[in-house]
Amino acid sequence: MTILIRGGTVVNADREFKADVLCDNGKIIAVGENLDAPAGAEVIDAGGLYVMPGGIDPHTHMQLPFMGTVTQDDFFTGTAAGLAGGTTSIIDFVIPNPQQSLMEAFNTWRGWAEKSAGDYSFHVAVTWWDETVHADMGKLVNEHGVNSFKHFMAYKNAIMADDEILVKSFTRALELGAMPTVHAENGELVYMLQQEMLKQGKTGPEAHPLSRPPVVEGEAAQRAIAIANVLNTPLYIVHVSCQESLDAITRARAHGQRVFGEVLAGHLVVDDSVYKNKDFVQAAGHVMSPPFRSSQHQQALWQGLQGGNLHTTATDHCTFCAAQKAAGKDDFTKIPNGCGGIEERMMVLWDAGVNTGRLTPSEFVKVTSANCAQIFNIYPRKGVIAEGADADIVLWDAAGTKTLSAKTQFSKGDFNVFEGRTVKGIPTHTISGGKLVFNQGELMAEMGAGRYIKRPSFSPMFQALNKMRA
Ligand code: URP
Ligand code: ZN
Ligand code: ZN
Repeated sequence: MTILIRGGTVVNADREFKADVLCDNGKIIAVGENLDAPAGAEVIDAGGLYVMPGGIDPHTHMQLPFMGTVTQDDFFTGTAAGLAGGTTSIIDFVIPNPQQSLMEAFNTWRGWAEKSAGDYSFHVAVTWWDETVHADMGKLVNEHGVNSFKHFMAYKNAIMADDEILVKSFTRALELGAMPTVHAENGELVYMLQQEMLKQGKTGPEAHPLSRPPVVEGEAAQRAIAIANVLNTPLYIVHVSCQESLDAITRARAHGQRVFGEVLAGHLVVDDSVYKNKDFVQAAGHVMSPPFRSSQHQQALWQGLQGGNLHTTATDHCTFCAAQKAAGKDDFTKIPNGCGGIEERMMVLWDAGVNTGRLTPSEFVKVTSANCAQIFNIYPRKGVIAEGADADIVLWDAAGTKTLSAKTQFSKGDFNVFEGRTVKGIPTHTISGGKLVFNQGELMAEMGAGRYIKRPSFSPMFQALNKMRA
């Protein structure tokens, strides 16, 4: 399929410029002024539109078995919803059960993901430790294109990684040239606070944020940073939700440590008042970890994004419906943790970021695709409009508006944390792997069209870090 995008304004992380973009056979083959349309090419008029790299969501959970149930969106419906919102690639998570082989879990997730409509890659979680985990990490990096490993510092008695696992896994990641990543919350404290809440008779969703206060997140972020500092590894902290974690990252970076922070679109614009809603469906629909925070924390997160101490925006897309959330009707600790957002992330970021002057269009590209592609080593294949890059492109109407709602979303969930929010700045067309898959409201996502994206290890940089340790 050949597509010529004519007359738009290309936005890359470094600059904006007027250019046509020619795509053929899944790749961008030319970017320039007044390009000729080859015979048979589909021509898209991008006059008045921005032409940007398709979004990359570095944090999703499609078809995730979690807290006794499985998310609503599978790899097809979830990636298709992403395409409708201009997101063309995801990095999802393989989460082995403790004692399960990493390779076995990886192969299971690879099978589930074959129906993806957009491109996908995997972080692999280290939830336990022995010599087979050490060996499988090597196989994953050297043979399967995995260059990041995830550690849940929360979820005690399930998938939590303690300090011993962090130290062993970070050390192994350094040897392999892979990026350690963490969900930073002190799982022991969360567990203790949850029991305390229940003892006090606080069983509803309003107790969820009380059991996971910012200090609990900040402590874990600081501890992971300290471990990474001693071991001389880089570190990527997922879903940074509060001032305390951001401060830890900012301090570390000021001392030259290579620490990266991810923020969720939801944490930037939804505040913790949602847990006070007396309607269980509404309050439980927002139960995710870390929880939504007060407006002071939101303000700090925006400053982190603007100031360059937070680098990527994600969604943690992990959809559970009302019937699933009802498992925690009498005990908030049993409400499956997770919310959606893959379809809305870019619109919310544009509306609350670019329209307010917090982000320029180029900064928007940085935090929705380019930085992620660089941090996880798939740049310039992804994250830039340039000759030779994958033809993953979103055309953007900065004047277009849309009211976000569960009733109109493509995502299979029955809840939307952005419900009723009207955004200005919407995708009009999405091109994924060189094919037009979203055209002015019509979604033409194709099951199985997405490809597994291998991410090479970071050998030269990591070897340098290894030498510094020695
Ligand atoms: O509540 C959340 N975030 N659910 C998904 C798992 C995780 O912690 O990322
Ligand atoms: Zn998490
Ligand atoms: Zn997550």
